[in-house]
Amino acid sequence: MIKKINTKTIKLIKFYNFINYNLIYNNKAINRYKKDVFEISGDKAKKLEKLKKSISDIKNCELKKSATNIVFADGNPKAKIMLIGEGPGSNEDQEGLPFVGRAGALLDKMLASIDLDRKKVYITNVVNYRPPKNRRPTEEEIDKYLPYLKKHIEIINPEILVLLGSTALNALIGNEVVISKARGQWIEKQFGECKTSVIVTFHPAFLMRQPAQKKMAWIDLKMIREKKSKLKI
Ligand code: URA
Repeated sequence: MIKKINTKTIKLIKFYNFINYNLIYNNKAINRYKKDVFEISGDKAKKLEKLKKSISDIKNCELKKSATNIVFADGNPKAKIMLIGEGPGSNEDQEGLPFVGRAGALLDKMLASIDLDRKKVYITNVVNYRPPKNRRPTEEEIDKYLPYLKKHIEIINPEILVLLGSTALNALIGNEVVISKARGQWIEKQFGECKTSVIVTFHPAFLMRQPAQKKMAWIDLKMIREKKSKLKI
């Protein structure tokens, strides 16, 4: 039976078309960052699930007490390029996904400049819960999350590991190095079974405060582009 459309419905359809409802709806932040579903091996999926569960079971953590959500990761678990930030901010805490705020928008632009996006990379942070008032995680907090981060790297097994900012640099390479010296060079590292080429670059939030440093970040991005072409990623 053909349903009769009354004039009220027609007017409503015209109105929705007029306000471009579809675009407004689909371009909402929540949809821009809607999680893609990637088919990964059962084994990898299980390991990631188990890791997420162990992180959510962490006891006596001040970060966790004040956070809304765990921020585990985003992107493609099959990606050969893994990025590590510092810790979730307020938007990330609300959505449970890394880099969805202003720094995330800049990160997306940086990735796009070398033909990458969240379907081609995997992203996580040094700590998985938001530090209150967006402060830097303490040494103690970093040490608490470090074994989980190393396990995370081992499970993803990236060929290229990009450390975004000094917190990720200090956590994974050491405290004695400064980012201005460490950036822009490849460091071969092993995390468990995973052998990977590490590069350090500036954190997008830092680049928003110090736009003059974007030219240095661009040098690092070009190095990543060259490496991925060499590795046929
Ligand atoms: N800054 C980070 O280091 N990580 C995020 O997820 C967001 C902002």
